[in-house]
Amino acid sequence: MSELNPKQREAAQFKDGIAAVIAVPGSGKTRTMMERIGILVNEYGIPPEHILGLTFTRNAAEEMRSRLVPVLGNLSSRVRLSTIHSFCLHLLKSEGRVFEILSGKEQLIFIKNVMKRLRIKDLTLGTILREISLAKNNIIDPTEFKDLFYGDKTMMQVANIYESYEEAKSNKLLLDFDDLLLEAYYLLRDNDAGPISSHAMSKKHSCRPKSHSMFKTVRLFMTVGRYAACLIICV
Ligand SMILES: Nc1ncnc2c1ncn2[C@@H]1O[C@H](COP(=O)(O)OP(=O)(O)OP(=O)(O)O)[C@@H](O)[C@H]1O
Ligand SMILES: [Mg+2]
Repeated sequence: MSELNPKQREAAQFKDGIAAVIAVPGSGKTRTMMERIGILVNEYGIPPEHILGLTFTRNAAEEMRSRLVPVLGNLSSRVRLSTIHSFCLHLLKSEGRVFEILSGKEQLIFIKNVMKRLRIKDLTLGTILREISLAKNNIIDPTEFKDLFYGDKTMMQVANIYESYEEAKSNKLLLDFDDLLLEAYYLLRDNDAGPISSHAMSKKHSCRPKSHSMFKTVRLFMTVGRYAACLIICV
């Protein structure tokens, strides 16, 4: 196998903390992370079950699984590889939380009903979904959202929908996908969190981390969940 380039090597050999590899498609993120897992286990002596590999998509998680086999052989099945959402789901369920997921069409209908109840007609579902998701990914609750956008008529309408949506969901024990991350974050929040170290393979090519709550949640996985290494692959 060809050598990693210097930036890839730096990410692969990074020892303590979270290595977030964020780079353009096809630039070698998965390759780097697989090498990294190999180094953590074979050189740094970290037990494979103390390693958590997180991705955004199921495909990327499956790809990691198959590409880890040549690196670790039998040990590869002991590394926890998952999408961040399914890991949060697992965490919440294992803590005994009772809820159903609200997603897709059902989520749209749910928000439409909230809008109907509030008699709001002049906002598109797309705008509402986007704004609510953005708020949640920045850990902004409806009260903070209102303070933030005080005086902006449109955003106050979004805020009212956001507030009613959260209330209605909570009454029915429903969580949307963004809630999975947020709830996992809240669950772990009261524990001490160590410093977060992110590593971009190339500043020029780096993109903004998808979500603030994701990083906070991952950081908590490492400290509270006692995972030695969290890996994020941005796809
Ligand atoms: N340093 C390197 N030298 C030679 N080939 C490399 C190097 N780094 C990555 N590659 C090759 O480049 C291809 C893309 O790598 P990889 O799949 O790891 O990228 P990726 O960033 O994860 O891609 P995607 O965005 O599609 O998930 C692979 O065939 C990989 O083996
Ligand atoms: Mg990849």
